[in-house]
Amino acid sequence: MKYTTLGYLDVKVSVIGLGCWQFGDPNWGWGKELNEELAIKIIHEAYNLGINFFDTAEIYGDGVSETVLGKGLKEIRDNVVIATKVSPSHLRYKDVLKACENSLKRLNTDRIDLYQIHWPNFYIPLKETAQAMDELYKQGKIKAVGVSNFPVPMIKEFKKNLKVAPLVSNQVQYNLVERLVEKEIAKYCRRNGMSIIAYSPLAQGLLTGKYSSSNIPTDAIRRNKAWFRKENLDKIMNLLRELESLSNKYNKKISQISLNWLISHPNTIAIPGAKTLEQLKENVESCDFELSKSDFKYISRISENLDLDYF
Ligand SMILES: NC(=O)c1ccc[n+]([C@@H]2O[C@H](COP(=O)([O-])OP(=O)(O)OC[C@H]3O[C@@H](n4cnc5c(N)ncnc54)[C@H](OP(=O)(O)O)[C@@H]3O)[C@@H](O)[C@H]2O)c1
Repeated sequence: MKYTTLGYLDVKVSVIGLGCWQFGDPNWGWGKELNEELAIKIIHEAYNLGINFFDTAEIYGDGVSETVLGKGLKEIRDNVVIATKVSPSHLRYKDVLKACENSLKRLNTDRIDLYQIHWPNFYIPLKETAQAMDELYKQGKIKAVGVSNFPVPMIKEFKKNLKVAPLVSNQVQYNLVERLVEKEIAKYCRRNGMSIIAYSPLAQGLLTGKYSSSNIPTDAIRRNKAWFRKENLDKIMNLLRELESLSNKYNKKISQISLNWLISHPNTIAIPGAKTLEQLKENVESCDFELSKSDFKYISRISENLDLDYF
């Protein structure tokens, strides 16, 4: 495993974290192929393999993800960094305090290491949310603050209103098929000592090479997503073919080439979700090699020209 710091703080985090949306959401197979026993095994194995950064949210499985994570981390709490998120419907001052209290209970801990705003809410002033975050920080209930899905002007506005709590990250959709964040957000975050926490780093399984237009996932999360539409899949197949040749060259899986490309960017932490121990292991092993500069540039160029249709 490789490590970096959480934003400008002196807090060590693994460059591959564990995304925990999969724990508790039936759309990801919760209650079928995935259950609490397996989720806890995945959490323990993640820790054994060097992962110390775990990402969840109050909304995942309506609290189930946090509860399962809390159980999984019980014996190792002090050795890990827990990141959770407050929902956009809970961004009023009192609601933030209450949501945090509920998350702490479910996570079975007295502090959240990184408390993130899941999505902006354009109807609630960021100043009000910032005041609540400062209060939680002063009480020691949160150790740092993050945003998620925030454009630069909103990050600036939020940062301006935070008086004591450190703002250390922006969690964004970022992978080889989705690089919009590189235009402005990533640059801003790097200049301001914030980590980029890359969610959907495998484009929800697409960047493993296992899906195609004749094999599209049927769950409600993915079946209507632009990436999985035929016209886009045809374009993505070109990228996957190039990734496959690199996969042969490096003797690594397509997923590992994709994750390695991502974490080769400065200040970037990838948080793939895993539904099996095999997926987890494969994802962790994506950081034990280095893409050559020319291969890195080559994939970057191919993926830059994807020109997907989102409308
Ligand atoms: N902040 C936000 O708004 C936001 C939004 C989305 C996600 N997130 C966070 O980011 C995490 C990851 O994002 P994500 O779950 O959307 O997408 P992802 O990590 O790109 O994809 C995860 C899915 O890909 C498949 N997979 C994972 N590793 C694999 C491997 N080695 N080989 C084959 N298949 C593999 C699994 O699904 P199948 O086996 O079913 O294909 C898994 O559920 C989430 O758990 C959550 O913590 C945050």
